[in-house]
Amino acid sequence: MDKNILSELSPTGCNIKQNEPLSKHTTLGIGGNADYFVEIFNEQQLIQVLKFIYNNKIKFYIIGGGSNILFSDEGFRGIIIKLCGDFCKYEIQENQIICGSAVNLSFLSKMTADRELSGLEYFVGIPGTVGGAIYGNAGIKNLSVSSVLDKVEVVNFTGKKEILTKKDLKFEYRKSNLQQCIIIRAFFILKKTNKNDILKVILQEINKRKISQPIGTKNAGCVFKNPKDDSAGRLIDSLNLKNYSIGDIKVSNIHANFIINESNGSAKDMLNLIEFIRNEVRKKYDINLETEIKIIK
Ligand code: EPU
Repeated sequence: MDKNILSELSPTGCNIKQNEPLSKHTTLGIGGNADYFVEIFNEQQLIQVLKFIYNNKIKFYIIGGGSNILFSDEGFRGIIIKLCGDFCKYEIQENQIICGSAVNLSFLSKMTADRELSGLEYFVGIPGTVGGAIYGNAGIKNLSVSSVLDKVEVVNFTGKKEILTKKDLKFEYRKSNLQQCIIIRAFFILKKTNKNDILKVILQEINKRKISQPIGTKNAGCVFKNPKDDSAGRLIDSLNLKNYSIGDIKVSNIHANFIINESNGSAKDMLNLIEFIRNEVRKKYDINLETEIKIIK
């Protein structure tokens, strides 16, 4: 099978790396080697790769910005897909943004603000790609990216392209029904507004994050989803767990729902810390915290 993957996928023109450290592709800087790490530049390549994977029943996973994910220290036995090239393109048609799923969300937020288009400014501080943000319905407090999304173009796991409109899309807090496909393009509808008003929100969001989140550290954003009507960060903080660490993995002293890799932390220590926090919160509050980050084994 190993030989097949290289010889079958090389002619597609994708960039194939073998034994690629996933720590290089995650904001946490954690993760062992992936057997194959395939960078895909256009739709045709994606369809060819997905058909090959489907026909050969190969394990695969698609990463966006690597900002919400924990891979194990053993890495990944299969193919990791990363979209680049054409998937980083975008165009603006009046108040509609047509955007490849590999575009950086924060960049898109600033770029649309600059064009006096409102709707994405609240998401300026969210790391990762547009595809990842839609997949996980990323957002701030009561506002998520799905609020300005009109439709998405996806390729399903058998390699078939489809457009999904509002009637097909289901979003909940940090959740979408886009688990069985790969988002390749997003269509957002924004509103023409005064540029200063949009920039005010951008500044406010950036400043809020600067004081309330551990910017510049190796982390994967909030580790746990918020339980209904509460904040996981507040609950963890109330147990005095800020700064609590296992090995090089530590609860942030700024926001307790962030876990930081201080230098060469392992996935094992991170998972142990997650379980420890979950148990402490369960004991004290009888609340079972659910992880927001994706844990891939
Ligand atoms: N709080 C504490 N201690 C902490 C952290 C928070 O007491 O260590 C308190 C705060 O003082 C505040 C309340 O908890 O009164 C809520 O905190 P915050 O405003 O930071 O919001 P959050 O619910 O912790 C959510 C999102 C963040 C998003 C912020 C800002 C989730 C899990 N988290 O955090 O999203 O940036 O709102 O809008 O929904 C992410 O999804 O990765 C993420 C970081």
